[in-house]
Amino acid sequence: MAADIDGSALARAATLLADARHAVVLAGAGMSKESGIPTFRGDGGLWTVRGEPPLNQYETFSMDPRRWWERRLEQERHADEFAVAIEAAEPNPGHVALAQLEALGAVAHVISQNIDNLHRRAGQRALTEIHGNRMWMRCVSCETRWPRAEFPVDPEALPPRCAQPGCGGIVKGDTVMFGEPIPPSALHQCALETAQADLFLSVGTSAVVYPAAQYPISAAQRGVPLIEINPEPTPLTPLAAVVLRGASGAILPALVEAVRDARARGGETSHS
Ligand code: APR
Repeated sequence: MAADIDGSALARAATLLADARHAVVLAGAGMSKESGIPTFRGDGGLWTVRGEPPLNQYETFSMDPRRWWERRLEQERHADEFAVAIEAAEPNPGHVALAQLEALGAVAHVISQNIDNLHRRAGQRALTEIHGNRMWMRCVSCETRWPRAEFPVDPEALPPRCAQPGCGGIVKGDTVMFGEPIPPSALHQCALETAQADLFLSVGTSAVVYPAAQYPISAAQRGVPLIEINPEPTPLTPLAAVVLRGASGAILPALVEAVRDARARGGETSHS
């Protein structure tokens, strides 16, 4: 175990996870920091460096989707350093450990704010990407999704339209823009998982963006224990039953081992 992890806090977190029947995780950009992708806020964060993006991105798209697509195709030809970092990124030990916690039956669902596809590549199955996935396209009308690599776009016929029978809606990147309504299916799944949660973990998120940040708060307000994994304090810290200060790439693998130990000591718990 990494030397600087608080052993007693880790043991408490592992016991909560080993005993939980429906643990839900809210993941944020901090999880991908160790994959070389900058966070948004804090030192070196994308918004810290570039400034927050306009909050009316979706309004701009809706007013002129053809222009949005012309810019998107141009960006795909000349990717900026953020896109390059995401393209080059590999899942880190934190992503792998979170998928292992799902495979162990210790985590029931992950709500991730990250669009980088790294959870899926690490093997996470029970996953809601609440801000979308940059490798996918989505119809804004019927929510049908396609992998970007399998979605041919004719530059002479912009914006692309949904091919679902009777739809014909405009297709855009799956990433949720500022000002864009989060797809109802994602909101429904997050609410369902939060309602069932008997344990909540917040990993690598500053917990300042809604509705994502509301899920751990709602759970904690009804008495569900909250575990926070983050090198820094956040608005969730006062609500946390256990705080693990540190990097998710070190803490999550240690948590997997600690859950295995807790399970071995306590025999098979409710997950048999
Ligand atoms: N391990 C875990 N957490 C880390 C690490 C690390 N190695 N490094 C940094 N962090 C923490 C920071 O302390 C911070 O609390 O990760 C968090 C990153 O916060 P943000 O950059 O605000 O990212 P996030 O919370 O995911 O932002 C939410 O804001 O701009 C929108 O759509 C964007 O999904 C994003 C949303």
